[in-house]
Formats: sequence, C-alpha cells, structure tokens
Amino acid sequence: GSASIAMSHANVARIVPCLPLETRWSSLMLRQYAGFWLAEVTLKTGVPTVHSCFEPRPTDVFLASFPKSGTTWLKALAFATQKRSTHPPLDGDHPLRHSSPHDCVRFIEIDFSTGDKFEELPSPRVLATHLPYTLLPDCITGEGSGCRIVYICRDPKDALVSYWLFTKKVAAALGVDAQSFTIHEAFELFCQGRCPGGPQWQHALQYWKESVRRPDLVLFLRYEEMLLEPERHLKKLAKFMGCEFADEEEEEGVVSAIVELCSLDKLRVMEVNRNGSSNLGVKNESYFRKGVAGDWSNHMTPEMARRLDKIVEDALQGSGFTF
Ligand code: A3P
Repeated sequence: GSASIAMSHANVARIVPCLPLETRWSSLMLRQYAGFWLAEVTLKTGVPTVHSCFEPRPTDVFLASFPKSGTTWLKALAFATQKRSTHPPLDGDHPLRHSSPHDCVRFIEIDFSTGDKFEELPSPRVLATHLPYTLLPDCITGEGSGCRIVYICRDPKDALVSYWLFTKKVAAALGVDAQSFTIHEAFELFCQGRCPGGPQWQHALQYWKESVRRPDLVLFLRYEEMLLEPERHLKKLAKFMGCEFADEEEEEGVVSAIVELCSLDKLRVMEVNRNGSSNLGVKNESYFRKGVAGDWSNHMTPEMARRLDKIVEDALQGSGFTF
C-alpha cells in the first residue's frame, strides 16, 4: 500500500548502490529509481530527508519543475508576489535585488537536507522541488494536506539545449572538462530519459495529470505561454496562491512592477546574479541565458528535433497531454 511505498522512499539510500547507473551526463552520477533518473545525491540524502523529516504546512506553495524549464523565473515571480505587502516590488531594498531567486526560494530535496532551517520560515512559505510528483511525500500530495503545487513546463527541445549548455558551464566552473560533452551525446541521453529528472515528458505528464484531477491545488504553467503574456499568468499565479491582486494594486501597477522586477534583463544584471554563487557551488549567472522559446534550432538539426518530438509524442499517446 501507500504506507510501504512511503517507507521505501525514505529508505532509498540503502539500495542506491544497486540501482542502474548512468555516468555519461558530464560529471553527474545518475541512478534510476521509480521510473526516473535522478542525481545520486538526491537519492542518497534528498529524498530520504524529505520523506522522513520534512513537515509541510497547509499554507505552503511548492514550485515544481523539470530543471531548465523556468524554475528561476517562477521562483522570483512567486516570491515577489507572495511577499509584496512586506516587500513591494519597487522597494530599492527588495530581497530579489540582493539575493538570487534560488536563495529566496529553496529546494526541499537539496537545501533542506543540507541544513536549511525550513521550519524557521514564516507562513506562508514558498518552496521548490525538481522531484517527480510520485516521489513527493504523501504529507505534501495527500488529501487534506492543503499544500498547493505550481508546475512550470517547457518544450523538451529547449529544456534539453538549456540543460546541456548549463551542464557544460557548471562543469567548466568546477574545473571538469566538458568540452567533449556534445549536443549529440546529451541528445541521445535525453531521448532515453537518461538525464536528471528524466524522462522529461514523464515528469511533466505526472504533474499535468494531477493538475487535471485537482485543479484547485495543482496549477500547470507553460514557460512559452508565460513569455507571451506574463501579466496574465502572474495574475493567475497570484489567485492560485491565495493572494490575488486587488483592482487597486493592478491600477497602481503592482503586477507590471513584479513582472519587470523578475524579468530576465533585470535579474541578470543584478550584482548578486552576475558575481554571486549558490551553496551548490554553481555561479548564479549560469541560471540566466537567453530566456526565449525555440532556441533549440540554433543547436539541434531539424532531424534531431523530429526524432525527439516523435519519441515524446509516442510516449504521451492517449494521455491527453501534449507540449
Ligand atoms: P535558456 O537556457 O533557454 O536561456 P531554470 O531556471 O529552470 O534553471 O531554467 C533556466 C532557463 O530559464 C534558462 O533558459 C534561462 O535563461 C531562463 N530564465 C532564467 N531567468 C529567467 C527569467 N527571469 N525570465 C525568463 N526566463 C528566464
């Protein structure tokens, strides 16, 4: 039953050495567990800690994503929106002007297991995760938890290209040689689902299904649609999080000020995002690149695109979900 499944997730660390291993994703060690490829460290400490120690609150909002799908942007938007009464977006001292979005909103399976004191954060909290839906503990996803989940989804081809470039950048910064990690190798691995959080389309599909089943508690957003109409999506996000914008706020320009504050162009030039780095040793600047839809065409051939599209289409056949 679900109790024994929960038990096994809390104890996954023990079986990690026996799980299928993938070492070709640059310097990351991946293991396959419960249908997904995840960083070994996530299975050794992240998942067990979240399953045995994390205590959600009914007011919590979780931002969920497959990596490189707009997590940083969603973190900034959700944080700025939820905290706008204490931190108005035009405030010269706004946290997003001196902290990375990743410091404002922390990952449960990364930062909590490395010692962040989540219990000291005032309610309502906004937290983040890259975990697949089925690897979240029951206390978050179960009936009556009250927890809200916002998922951000992105075209697989753009997520792949963004992830490949990010991986190379991070490796270079760590002094690991990643020159030989070509788009062709990343592509083959991605197509087989052998990348962190992969298969990417299964990651998105799980959250999408939940958003259909429980629309009041799971909101499914698309990066490409948000780029086209950021204000409309921000209002939707605020309403979903339980902090809808009042008409007066809209008239005063609060919505557009938050969109502006969280825009790629604004965030990327902040000192902290140009020269700072997170506790993972990743430079903050690595999270800000082009931020457009369709950049895959500059790195992948039409043939590669067709092949990946077909794999995704076949896998999603009959599910009702498409990218
Ligand atoms: P590209 O590499 O395609 O430019 P994540 O935040 O999940 O790691 O995803 C990173 C991607 O989101 C990168 O995509 C990055 O440029 C883009 N991004 C980061 N901040 C953004 C923002 N404020 N607005 C829009 N896109 C943003």
